[in-house]
Amino acid sequence: MKKTIRVTVNGRLYEEDVEPRILLSHFLRETIGLTGTHVGCVVGECGACSVLLDDKLIKSCLHFAVQADGCSVTTIEGLAKDGQLSVIQEAFVKHYALQCGYCTPGMVMASHALLRDHPQPTEDQIRKALGGNLCMCTGYVQIVEAVKDAAKGSTNA
Ligand code: FES
Ligand code: FES
Repeated sequence: MKKTIRVTVNGRLYEEDVEPRILLSHFLRETIGLTGTHVGCVVGECGACSVLLDDKLIKSCLHFAVQADGCSVTTIEGLAKDGQLSVIQEAFVKHYALQCGYCTPGMVMASHALLRDHPQPTEDQIRKALGGNLCMCTGYVQIVEAVKDAAKGSTNA
């Protein structure tokens, strides 16, 4: 039986009827059409589906949509403001920190959460913070450089 949930996503309130088995990642992509959140492994290993749930970094494939009822979610679509990329997004572009881009939304969300909590992270902290996000393409070097650069530029990445 479907359940009505109310979830604020990127500042907009959505009220939707969902099956209890629907994952939050599926809800974001298929129910409300925010396909910036990617889905890779669906078992919590790759980090492509990372979003903020009540400001906490989570893997949305490990949560049911009904668990987000009454909560606030921030997805990759919520980082840019008024058409302006966030500092961390700009840094990913500047450092060519992506190739196929599959991991990128999750990497950016994890980097965003890191810089929010640790505005001046060490390289070790960056690598640990991104340890739950897998990239098949870049070798991670450009990603780490992008996060370091974003940390130099702003405390509001
Ligand atoms: S799709 Fe969620 S961690 Fe891989
Ligand atoms: S850029 Fe292809 S998986 Fe990271």
